[in-house]
Amino acid sequence: MDILITGNCGYVGSIMTDLFLKEGHKVIGYDILMHGKEHMIHFEDNENYEFHKGDTRDFDKIEPLIEKSDVVVHLAAIPRVDDCLDIEPEMYEINSNASIEIARLCLKHDKKIVFASTCSVYGMLEDDNEITEESEANPTTIYAKTKAEAELGIQRLCPDALICRFATAYGFSPRMRYDLFINEVTRDAYVKKKIELFDPKVWRCFINTKDMARGVLFLLKNDKSGIYNIGSNDQNVNKTKIVDSIKNEIGDFQIDILREKKDPRDYRINFDKITNLGFSIEKEIQTGIKDMVEHLSLPGINPYDIKYTNYKKLPERFVKDSS
Ligand SMILES: NC(=O)c1ccc[n+]([C@@H]2O[C@H](COP(=O)([O-])OP(=O)(O)OC[C@H]3O[C@@H](n4cnc5c(N)ncnc54)[C@H](O)[C@@H]3O)[C@@H](O)[C@H]2O)c1
Repeated sequence: MDILITGNCGYVGSIMTDLFLKEGHKVIGYDILMHGKEHMIHFEDNENYEFHKGDTRDFDKIEPLIEKSDVVVHLAAIPRVDDCLDIEPEMYEINSNASIEIARLCLKHDKKIVFASTCSVYGMLEDDNEITEESEANPTTIYAKTKAEAELGIQRLCPDALICRFATAYGFSPRMRYDLFINEVTRDAYVKKKIELFDPKVWRCFINTKDMARGVLFLLKNDKSGIYNIGSNDQNVNKTKIVDSIKNEIGDFQIDILREKKDPRDYRINFDKITNLGFSIEKEIQTGIKDMVEHLSLPGINPYDIKYTNYKKLPERFVKDSS
């Protein structure tokens, strides 16, 4: 397949690019390069890879790329923002409106769209029941609201759209993010020998970046459409369990519980729909933590560099002209 991946230079996109190429597909990357592309240089010699720098809001630029692809995997988004940054309008513009417009272009050119959504659209767990794809969305953050809005718009336009509600990602990627829960606490435990934890009892679900990429390919190969939770029932865990897994890897460290902060997510997600089709994850949380510790132990890496945390310097990255 010829696959256009928007946001292919990001944390998830760089892993997807790698897997899709290894599986023999052609990848057309499209990214505004908020985090640079040094980590993508090794793809440039691959004859099945081409890259275009651009903004998903530049519809004239992206349309010919959609036209020449078989499938569009739409990842480009602003996944998380520090509370101090007031960029809600841009989040709706990029995460919702541009995504719906890209779906419209897919409809026009009869291409399949795969939309990267998130289990965060489910919001808080109100009872003890597990959440399935049939459960009502109850997004509580701006990010989740923009994704829920995009899902609705895309599905209205493209009945064969594939909506992937991913668990929270973790694990090593060439474009590392240390603002994701498992990655952040692994880094702090390893480097500072101390972590800060809030709401240790809440339930969250996690998935390794590589399994996210495998999940998308699996559903595409099986010609699926509609909403799929992508993750694994076994990786629904509370935060305390993650802390124990890190301790297994690196030994003991100090834990400071922050009582004033609350996690806006608390849920147990049911992943039977994808599992019953024959999909299973390959990377366990313990292995993902081990990979990250190996990377953290390499010389010359500063995991506290601002570039590994999304968007403290966001405004200067909002450059529409990306030629
Ligand atoms: N990381 C997670 O835990 C997680 C979980 C569920 C869903 N997702 C979804 O997966 C996708 C990728 O997330 P990520 O963790 O890789 O984030 P990331 O920030 O590492 O990557 C996002 C990429 O999109 C690009 N981008 C942003 N706005 C753009 C625009 N307007 N035009 C072109 N490119 C643009 C950025 O340059 C970046 O390379 C997002 O849609 C996110 O919502 C991520």
